[in-house]
Amino acid sequence: MKVSIIGQGYVGLTISAFAAEFYQVVGFDNNRRIVNQLNHAKSHIEGVESSILQKWLKQGSYRATDNSQEIDGSDIVIIAVPTPLDADRQPDLSYIDQACKTIGANLKNSALIINESTSFPGTIRNYIKPAIERYSERKIEHQYSISPERVDPGRGDFNQRNTPRLYAGLTPEATSRTYAFYSKFCDKLVEVSSPEVAEAAKLFENTFRQVNIALVNEFAQIAHALGISVYETLDAANTKPYGFMKFTPSAGVGGHCIPVDPTYLAAAAESRGVPATFIRRANEVNLEMSKYVVDRVEADNAGTLEGKNVLVVGVAYKPNVADVRETAAELVIHHLRSRGAVTSWHDELVGTWRGEKSSELRTADITIVITKHDNVEPAAILASAPYVFDTTGKIVGAHGL
Ligand SMILES: NC(=O)c1ccc[n+]([C@@H]2O[C@H](COP(=O)([O-])OP(=O)(O)OC[C@H]3O[C@@H](n4cnc5c(N)ncnc54)[C@H](O)[C@@H]3O)[C@@H](O)[C@H]2O)c1
Repeated sequence: MKVSIIGQGYVGLTISAFAAEFYQVVGFDNNRRIVNQLNHAKSHIEGVESSILQKWLKQGSYRATDNSQEIDGSDIVIIAVPTPLDADRQPDLSYIDQACKTIGANLKNSALIINESTSFPGTIRNYIKPAIERYSERKIEHQYSISPERVDPGRGDFNQRNTPRLYAGLTPEATSRTYAFYSKFCDKLVEVSSPEVAEAAKLFENTFRQVNIALVNEFAQIAHALGISVYETLDAANTKPYGFMKFTPSAGVGGHCIPVDPTYLAAAAESRGVPATFIRRANEVNLEMSKYVVDRVEADNAGTLEGKNVLVVGVAYKPNVADVRETAAELVIHHLRSRGAVTSWHDELVGTWRGEKSSELRTADITIVITKHDNVEPAAILASAPYVFDTTGKIVGAHGL
């Protein structure tokens, strides 16, 4: 069975690496540099080992390509392209549209089309299916289904095999073929009654996290004003064995999911006349945390950051990955610079970011920790400046939220 996976990023490459054990996988990506790297068995994604790519390339069950014609003849085509927000922070389906064009223009046989990109309910039925039909001159009838991706890059305990997967097709045949495909490498598949339920569940999972992170970020500010430790208070609340789930405060949320997906749900709600005030406000609270952090640092440093050398430690959006998408570090640096601070950053995993290179972990007036990777020693952070503000709660002896 030939499976083409459109987009070889976090989601697409992860699926490719699992699927290639059982199927002939073509990884299509329009980024030639990535394609070349992958065909030389060089993975750019945490959690996908280069050695596994090497294995599949050698046995011929995987290859990457930027030639869209190579998806022809596929039994299954999976869409795993970005679904960001546009300049007005509205859902941007242009990458999905491009993927539909690739499928419509190149796939000359009937196939099962599965969408793994996160989007609002109705995307597979009202957007992807009509778009592929529009782009297909031959008017080929495909099957369509959705199985939203839940991968958490860099995570060791949960992976494709042991993370339950939701799925639903537009037809019973699409549903059963989707089950047959994933059940080879996923132990638990959960069928839901419609693609819209699966699409909405994915958005709600991430909205749940976004809202709870915003709540704890707001609580961090309240706790500070009350003169109590937010961490001790959260640990105390967490001794309740039911009805409480602990989230921890931070400088804000990053990555492709939490800052973005809830807006897809809010947009879907608002397009139907339902105000999504809670989701919108949660987003604002998380975005405002960067300013709160800089306010706190400024207040602790005689009320001015003018001319101070400030080192930001950890610019990836979460520990132990090199992903800087929507990282809170960006807004923190923006606020620091607007107050006259001279900024640099340290993150050896990221290496180069926005045209700047990672600086040494030393000799700053102020250090602010946004993300703490395991390979960065707390003692080295504490020694890097006379004043250290830690937003992660992991550096004992530093100032913090
Ligand atoms: N990263 C995650 O943790 C995660 C988890 C669950 C769901 N998702 C969702 O999965 C989708 C993909 O996210 P990702 O993190 O893999 O993105 P990514 O940016 O890591 O990868 C996307 C890849 O698609 C390629 N691409 C873009 N347009 C293309 C096109 N028209 N044709 C071929 N290739 C194209 C890009 O070059 C890139 O390599 C998004 O909808 C995202 O919300 C991501």
